[in-house]
Amino acid sequence: MTQQSVVLKTGGNSGFGFAVAEELGSDSTKHILLGCRSAEKGEKAVAELQNRAQATIDFVRLDITDEKSISAAVSEVEKKYGRLDVLVNNAATLDQNQESLALQMASCFETNSTGVALAVDAFLPLLKKSTSVARIINISSGAGSLRRRVNQSPNAQVVGMQGVAYAASKAALNMITLAQAKAYGGDALKVFVYTPGFVISNLSTLNTVENGAKSPKDGALGLVKVINGERDSEHGGFLSESGQYEW
Ligand SMILES: NC(=O)c1ccc[n+]([C@@H]2O[C@H](COP(=O)([O-])OP(=O)(O)OC[C@H]3O[C@@H](n4cnc5c(N)ncnc54)[C@H](OP(=O)(O)O)[C@@H]3O)[C@@H](O)[C@H]2O)c1
Repeated sequence: MTQQSVVLKTGGNSGFGFAVAEELGSDSTKHILLGCRSAEKGEKAVAELQNRAQATIDFVRLDITDEKSISAAVSEVEKKYGRLDVLVNNAATLDQNQESLALQMASCFETNSTGVALAVDAFLPLLKKSTSVARIINISSGAGSLRRRVNQSPNAQVVGMQGVAYAASKAALNMITLAQAKAYGGDALKVFVYTPGFVISNLSTLNTVENGAKSPKDGALGLVKVINGERDSEHGGFLSESGQYEW
């Protein structure tokens, strides 16, 4: 029997992360781990997915803003599986209800940039133990694209100054990913930035059908291809479903 790939996705209990788990669930060669900060939400998501999945699914408690939580999750994955094959850093916040810009900046950077850097640093030894090509996929956003901001694309206009904390934290994540790709990338480990596009989710009050957001399932298939190694030749790239994105 083929050994299952262990795929850990942070923030897998809602929106895009959940849709990717649903899509990946049809693949019996995968063991999907949802990294959730709430045990209640994690258990609920696993129960919903397990009903229809060919893959095996579990969740691990993981708050990426808490180093002790990250370290406990690494120990749990090591104890149960001894390795990690794919790490999808999907968890993020826009935190638009913070009382001040300072608090929103701190929160967005803590989760969207620092949290991803810490998670990769902590899980790297397990990714190096993968028996196949390991992959790190950091979920960013078109809002983090400097080029699009320079060109004032419609997306950048929607985000405006209201979303500057989120946009800046995603631009920082892009730089963190490039550094990870240069430092760790090679034949055995591939590193990517991926953006799902504008999808319905709990990220903000704007992420609705009325505002033109598409189903999170539409962006999920593209990410599954990256998880499965179909885009390994684009290592170090800023990917979307349809091609490469502008930095
Ligand atoms: N939706 C879009 O249009 C869009 C566009 C471009 C990029 N993205 C990116 O896609 C990814 C998924 O976002 P989404 O739109 O699906 O939003 P979402 O529905 O709000 O999902 C975010 C997930 O991250 C989790 N999370 C937040 N902080 C966390 C922490 N400290 N530790 C662990 N988990 C945490 C949330 O858990 P809780 O349920 O516990 O809060 C939730 O499961 C994000 O990286 C986002 O930036 C989204």
